[in-house]
Amino acid sequence: MNQLFITGGAGFIGSAFVRLALAELPQSEVTNFDALTYAGNTDNLEGIDAEGYRFVHGDITDRDAVMEALGQGTDAIVNFAAESHVDRSIASADEFVRTNVLGTQVLLDCARERKVSRFVQVSTDEVMGSLPEDEREFFTEESGFSPNSPYAASKAGAEHLVRAARHTFGLDTVITRCGNNYGPRQFPEKFLPLMIANAMNDQPIPVYGDGRNVRDWIHVDDHCRAILLALRKARAGATYNIGARNERRNIEVAKSVLDQLGKPHSLLTFVKDRPGHDRRYAIDSSLIESELGWKPQETWESGLGKTIEWYQTNGDWVERARSGAYREFYAQQYGSEVKAP
Ligand SMILES: NC(=O)c1ccc[n+]([C@@H]2O[C@H](COP(=O)([O-])OP(=O)(O)OC[C@H]3O[C@@H](n4cnc5c(N)ncnc54)[C@H](O)[C@@H]3O)[C@@H](O)[C@H]2O)c1
Repeated sequence: MNQLFITGGAGFIGSAFVRLALAELPQSEVTNFDALTYAGNTDNLEGIDAEGYRFVHGDITDRDAVMEALGQGTDAIVNFAAESHVDRSIASADEFVRTNVLGTQVLLDCARERKVSRFVQVSTDEVMGSLPEDEREFFTEESGFSPNSPYAASKAGAEHLVRAARHTFGLDTVITRCGNNYGPRQFPEKFLPLMIANAMNDQPIPVYGDGRNVRDWIHVDDHCRAILLALRKARAGATYNIGARNERRNIEVAKSVLDQLGKPHSLLTFVKDRPGHDRRYAIDSSLIESELGWKPQETWESGLGKTIEWYQTNGDWVERARSGAYREFYAQQYGSEVKAP
């Protein structure tokens, strides 16, 4: 891959991928195309100064801007750009449809027109809906679509468009579906950074409903290594589920954070459940393991430890990310019962 076009590379996962791609493919030219929404943070790109790297401020729904930034000779597009927060999609879904659905179609059209060799769509296990608590059931690549939130529905729509581009026009596409990521530089309104920051500041930790919802957690760098491998080695048209076999109830995750920081469990505060809250996600990643030889490098203990340490030593990043829109969102979401620290 000589010329890589990464969308959404100022976000949490995209910025980790930009770093990985520059480290693993030092001869490549990497364009990071990002609209810098509330979730796009140029602080996430600090220290990236490779010669082959450039940042382009642009919106994936803007066809002319995408065509211009793609130029000639782009080998691959990796599409991370999205509205990504389920709670926000419940408050208002318009932006989710615009960016996640329309934006993906614009990228697919431009990829065809510019004869891009490969298109990687970064998707989510949430397109497959929710699993029963019975622990023998897992999401596989064959699981049906059953999106339950506007976010998940918009990501499912995007996947359908990617599939259609392959079937109808023969575009070389790959889809990856991952579970809940954690790691450095995640926007502070998301579950894990919010818990870490609140625990560090001795503030209550809001937990939705009974706290028994199960998520399958993976370190962001393991996710990025899987995407890079898929970009380089996957069969055209393949879909891969990516998970670290690390199912945890939300309440257990919250307690692990408190324990690692030496804080009391009395900080846990149960708040009204999210409407339509999916009960359980669990991923069978045996296909990518057997076909591409991927496996996660971080355990939950090693990954969580490093993540907490990163937030502890990067107070400036947290402070800057927490200002502005974040505070308004926090009040709207959790009400006055739990104050933003
Ligand atoms: N976070 C997770 O746990 C997780 C799990 C599975 C899949 N995903 C997927 O991975 C991708 C990245 O997730 P994330 O957590 O890093 O998200 P994020 O919200 O941190 O970052 C999204 C990035 O996309 C950019 N963006 C948004 N709209 C845009 C537009 N119209 N044009 C150009 N750029 C735009 C934002 O500025 C931001 O930099 C998303 O597609 C998401 O659906 C995330």
